[in-house]
Amino acid sequence: MTEQKPIEALSRLETDVLLEIAQAGDSNELEALRIAYLGRKDGRISAILRGLGSMAPEDRPVVGQEANRVKAVVSQALEQRERALSGPAAESNEDLTLPGRGSWKGGLHPVTQTVDEIWHIFRDLGFTRARGPEADTEWYNFEALNTPLDHPAADEQDTLYLVDSVLLRSHTSPVQMRTMETHEPPIRIIAPGWVYRRDTYDATHTPAFMQVEGLVIDEGVTFVDFKATLAEFARRYWGPDTQTRFRPSFFPFTEPSAEVDVKRVITHPDGSKEETDWLEIMGAGMVDPAVLDNAGYDSERYTGFAFGMGPARIAKLKHGVDDLRTFFENDVRFLEQFAR
Ligand code: DAH
Repeated sequence: MTEQKPIEALSRLETDVLLEIAQAGDSNELEALRIAYLGRKDGRISAILRGLGSMAPEDRPVVGQEANRVKAVVSQALEQRERALSGPAAESNEDLTLPGRGSWKGGLHPVTQTVDEIWHIFRDLGFTRARGPEADTEWYNFEALNTPLDHPAADEQDTLYLVDSVLLRSHTSPVQMRTMETHEPPIRIIAPGWVYRRDTYDATHTPAFMQVEGLVIDEGVTFVDFKATLAEFARRYWGPDTQTRFRPSFFPFTEPSAEVDVKRVITHPDGSKEETDWLEIMGAGMVDPAVLDNAGYDSERYTGFAFGMGPARIAKLKHGVDDLRTFFENDVRFLEQFAR
């Protein structure tokens, strides 16, 4: 059977040439292969096609068809390898006009950014950073802060107890006492951290939230220092035109106590200015002498002021967010707007 031979030869040739093409390292080698197989004069496939005339007439079509198929396969393999060698992108037929995918970039949470902004302002005013445990005792969370356990603020309804007298702190104020116990005045600290309350999860409350506590204790600290420091903070945070208002209030650990409000001036895109409403930003006051006594400080010699604010509320006002829960939902479409 004469036709078997050229067909078998073609099949071996096809395997060989494809392997050689795959191994070719540059265009010169590819060109040499093209000449060796497809070259008009001496190419092996061309030779087979040329030899058709001397074959039995009934074999010609089969061998001719197969030789032409192999010829096409080899030309295509040569072209592909040529493209692959001239660039990695061409190999996988990537569409270079497709827009890039952009890599994932993380960012700080908007509330973390606010804590950092607050902290940086106070750092520039000479404060250092302090921290305390998130699970604390009734003593630090309430009693040391002049809050008897039967005071409404100590009501079990408002707090999350772990065991007997240990609870998740309901504010960052316990850091005041923990710092006073381990340090002598002068004290100027900022203590950011998580606090926990039995609050319903709604647009304006979350059972866990951040607070930023501040405490200053030294000889001769007066209400003027207190007002001036917080007014300066407000001007640095919201701009030089920001006004501050101190409204009388009550906290067991300060006397007198105040709620601090700010009125901001916002500049519209057309340059016109507008005053906002008063916004409450923190609780504050002059440290109650009973707290200084609990710390073992001489309350005749030292005075001070303290404050506590909620950065999530400040971030909410700043970014015009209307529901606190969006800070907790981890929806990347929301969060990525604040990524820097
Ligand atoms: N601890 C208070 C709260 O969580 C906030 C506060 C008020 C902190 C007055 C203070 C302060 O340091 O002096 O509501």
